[in-house]
Amino acid sequence: MFLGLDLGTSGLKGVVINDAGNVVAQASSSLTVSSPKATWSEQAPEDWWQALLDVCGQLSERLDLSKIEALGLSGQMHGATLLDAAGQVLRPCILWNDGRSKSQCDAVMQAHPELLTLSGNLAMPGFTAPKILWVKENEPEVYAQLDKVLLPKDYLVYRMTGVFSSDCSDAAGTLWLNPETRQWDEQLLKICGLTSENMPTVFEGQQVVGQVSADIAEQLGLQPIPVVAGAGDNAAGAVGMGVTEPGQGFVSLGTSGVYFSVSESHNANPDNTVHAFCHALPNRWHQMGVTLSAANSLSWFAKLVDRPVPELLDELEDSDIQRARVVFLPYLNGERTPINDPLANGQFLGMVNSTQRAELTLAVLEGIAFSLLDCQNALASAGSDVSELSLIGGGARSALWRQLIADVLGKTIDYRDGGDVGPGLGAARLALMGKKESEGQDIEALIQEHCQLPEVLATHQPNPDNAEYFSAKYALYRKAYEQTAVLND
Ligand code: XUL
Repeated sequence: MFLGLDLGTSGLKGVVINDAGNVVAQASSSLTVSSPKATWSEQAPEDWWQALLDVCGQLSERLDLSKIEALGLSGQMHGATLLDAAGQVLRPCILWNDGRSKSQCDAVMQAHPELLTLSGNLAMPGFTAPKILWVKENEPEVYAQLDKVLLPKDYLVYRMTGVFSSDCSDAAGTLWLNPETRQWDEQLLKICGLTSENMPTVFEGQQVVGQVSADIAEQLGLQPIPVVAGAGDNAAGAVGMGVTEPGQGFVSLGTSGVYFSVSESHNANPDNTVHAFCHALPNRWHQMGVTLSAANSLSWFAKLVDRPVPELLDELEDSDIQRARVVFLPYLNGERTPINDPLANGQFLGMVNSTQRAELTLAVLEGIAFSLLDCQNALASAGSDVSELSLIGGGARSALWRQLIADVLGKTIDYRDGGDVGPGLGAARLALMGKKESEGQDIEALIQEHCQLPEVLATHQPNPDNAEYFSAKYALYRKAYEQTAVLND
C-alpha cells in the first residue's frame, strides 16, 4: 500500500492506495486560515503537523499502517514557511492567497524585468518571492534569522525525514526556479538576497528524497519508509486524474479554482497572468490560470446565510430559478488570472426587493464559472488547447454546478471517479511510482501503467440554449469589475 497526504488550505487529507492503485482508505482533518489584516492569509505550520498526526491516527484505526511501502505529499502551493538555522519556524506561513506583497511585486517588476524571462512568470502576490521581499522590508528581525524557505508540504517532509527537499512543480511557484532547467536560479534568488543554500534540494515528484525517521515512524505507526518529493496540489491533482500528456487538462473546484493544461515544454505567457510551471513528472510542464476564491466563495456565502452548501444547492435545484439577474464577482481574496489585482473585492450587483437566496446562490456559481472562463481565455491566448477536460475538487460533486461550468466554458467536461481525492491520490501514485523506479523500473512505463484517467462518472455537454444568456452575462461580469475596481483602494 502507498500513502498520499494532501495538505490543502481547508484541511489535510490522507489517501491510501493498494498495489493496483485503487483507493482503500481516506481520512481528513480540517484547518483554519487566519487573516489578521485585510488581504493577509496565514497558517501555523504546527497546525499542519497536528493535522497530519490526526489523519495518520484515523487511518491507523482502519488499516495497518506498517504495511505502507512509501508515502508522498501534495500541498497548497507558494506558501512561505520560514525556518531559522535550527530548523525552527520563524513566523506563521504566508499563504498562496495572501495579497500583502502588491507593492513588492510592482517594485520588483520595475527593478528586475529579467524576472519575466528567467522564471517565465509575472511577480504576483500569491507567489513566494514577493512574500520574502515583504518580510525583508517589514520584519527585518525575521529576515535576519532566515536560513531556509520551504513550501508547505516540504515542511511536513522535513518534519518526517529531516531532509530539506522540494519538487519542481511546487518549486516553480516560488519564482526562484528556472522551469526549463528545473533547478534553482541564483540570479532569481539574489533578487531576494537569497542563494541556493537557503533552498531545499529540488527533485522530480516521484523521486525518493529520504526516509521517515525512526522516532516519527514509530509515532505514526509506519515503518521507516521512503518519502518521495511529491507535488504542488495542482500538479498532484493532475497525476491523480491521469492528466500527464499535452492536450489534457482539468478544472479544479477547490478553495481556489484552477484551469490546468499540460504542455510539452515550458510555455511562458506572463503578460496574461498565465502560470507556466513544471509538471511533477519528468519532461513535462503545465500552464494554469488561477482564480483565488472558487469553492471558497460558495462556503463564504453559505456561512453568511447560515446554511450548509448542500442545502443551498438543493434549494436552488428545487427552485425554478435558472437565470440570475444578480452578478457576483468572486474576488473575496483579490484575484490572479486575469486581472492580477490583490485588492479586487467581491461584489453582489443587481439585487432588488424580490431577490431570493437561491438566486444569490446561482449568481455565486455563475461568478465562479466566469472566473474559470477568464482562465480558459488566458490559456487560449497562451496557445494552450485543451481537448480533454476533466473536473475535480470538492465542488465538482454538484451536477448542477458541473453543467453550469460546461455551459459557461462552452466545452464538454468529464466528471471522473476519484475527482474529490485528486491531489492525495496523485501524491500516493507518485509514492508508488517512486518506489518502483527506485527498484529499477522505467518511469515512462510506470506513468503509462499508473496514471490512467479514472472512470467517467458523468459527461456534461454545453447546452447551446444557454450560450447567449451566458455570453451576455459574462460581458456584464467583466464590465462590473471595471466599474467597481474603483472601490478597491
Ligand atoms: C496555484 C494556487 C492554488 C493553491 C491552492 O497557483 O495558488 O491553487 O495551490 O492550494
